[in-house]
Amino acid sequence: MDGYIASAASRLLLSNEADFDRVDAVRASCDAILVGATTIRNDNPKLIVRSQARRDERTARGLAPSPMKVTVTCRAELDARADFFTTGETEKLVYCARSCVGDARAGLDPVATVVDGGHTVEMCRLSNDLAARGVERLMVEGGGTVHTQFLTADLVDELQLVVAPVFVGDSQAPRFVRDGCFPWSPARRATLAAVRQIDDVVLLRYALSSRFEDN
Ligand SMILES: NC(=O)c1ccc[n+]([C@@H]2O[C@H](COP(=O)([O-])OP(=O)(O)OC[C@H]3O[C@@H](n4cnc5c(N)ncnc54)[C@H](OP(=O)(O)O)[C@@H]3O)[C@@H](O)[C@H]2O)c1
Repeated sequence: MDGYIASAASRLLLSNEADFDRVDAVRASCDAILVGATTIRNDNPKLIVRSQARRDERTARGLAPSPMKVTVTCRAELDARADFFTTGETEKLVYCARSCVGDARAGLDPVATVVDGGHTVEMCRLSNDLAARGVERLMVEGGGTVHTQFLTADLVDELQLVVAPVFVGDSQAPRFVRDGCFPWSPARRATLAAVRQIDDVVLLRYALSSRFEDN
């Protein structure tokens, strides 16, 4: 309830089972899922579709059982044994700042494809590159550094914000977003499209572009 997405020292499971299942359905509906490198290092997420029925449904549509996994890094300090790389029969892409592409390829070949993201990786260019690879629907699952860049660049069609009934109460903990110049302000309010209670959490869906789809 105080806007943090983890504790300072460890991962926090903020959603409940019903909401994790909802997130699983959203994942299954996407072409790719992106997280920042710190989330991989701190949380070691699998980022695969958990439900066998949803995996089967994707396979029947000619898709991989889980969406492509995407991350972004400057330092390329990623462990090829992390669950992000070792789980899920799907492509893994690492957008890396040019200065470390060689290190990234040395450390992650053959578990991931390392893409030269340019001098600094910009989310607009990354999104265009993903689109060229067939990604129409991208789910950005954190953390705050990555959220901030997609939001401040006005690239986001929908924001799904889930409020869990807990306080973290530690200003060292990561927040949902960092400092930045966001397009939504008192002068340009975001559109609240839907509110849903899911057991003890609440889902807020904001329509942030004309491409928002109410489903
Ligand atoms: N509650 C939730 O739903 C949820 C979901 C996800 C994450 N989290 C939490 O969020 C925390 C992490 O958040 P965070 O904001 O610290 O980190 P983050 O967004 O996960 O990752 C930041 C890292 O991504 C890389 N990066 C980001 N933008 C980049 C760019 N433009 N170019 C190149 N590399 C870039 C850098 O990696 P390098 O350092 O490798 O250069 C940077 O240090 C974790 O503790 C996790 O538990 C919570």
